[in-house]
Amino acid sequence: MDRLDKFLVNAKIGSRSEVKKLIKKGLIKVNGNIIKKVDYKVSDNDIIEYNNQKIEGHKLVYIIINKPIGYLSSTYDSRDKYVLQLIDHKFKDELSIAGRLDKDAHGLLFLTNDGELIHRIISPNKNIYKTYEVMVEGDITKDKIKRLEEGIDLKDFITKPAIVEKVENNIITIKISEGKYHQIKRMMKAVGLTVKDLKRIAIGNILLGDLKEGEWLEIEKPNIFNNDSPI
Ligand code: URA
Repeated sequence: MDRLDKFLVNAKIGSRSEVKKLIKKGLIKVNGNIIKKVDYKVSDNDIIEYNNQKIEGHKLVYIIINKPIGYLSSTYDSRDKYVLQLIDHKFKDELSIAGRLDKDAHGLLFLTNDGELIHRIISPNKNIYKTYEVMVEGDITKDKIKRLEEGIDLKDFITKPAIVEKVENNIITIKISEGKYHQIKRMMKAVGLTVKDLKRIAIGNILLGDLKEGEWLEIEKPNIFNNDSPI
């Protein structure tokens, strides 16, 4: 149960004072009846209308975007381009990003206003695999792949086991369950490979699919915690 004015504020109809005016002017209906009481109690099943248009109440949203190179993985920046500028959604000002990508990397970012899910995704003991497609300079040898898979001592930490596949002469896919700063670039450098292009194509079982650069999509709440093994 919510107050009518609070429901309208949460649904982004206006500020507290703006929605109070709308209610008092008789512009808001609940289940077909004009309601002029700002603290009228509404529940999930009630149909609330403004100008005879049903209002969608506040909800948790899940968004994926294909971040282009050159954009920051942030929700605001005073100088640089940032991904939230590419998203047009009623609840965009509530979104947080689960797992950043470098400015010069591209591919899948996941955004949500579901704080609990963000927390679970970025929690280090959850072992959610992120999959990257990496174009490198240097020879991709079996030995390097083995070292990447087994774990590499990066001095400040040893990387957890990864899964690596050579897909082309100069391209590999690598799945890692961590997300340390510049982790892929540092792992590649440690085995003598230089990253030329870095693209994230999956977070757990959320896939980038054929989303074009700069495009975003609202998706159902993902169930990314049902895979103990990397996918
Ligand atoms: N590893 C990197 O080096 N950069 C990224 O953006 C993501 C993973």
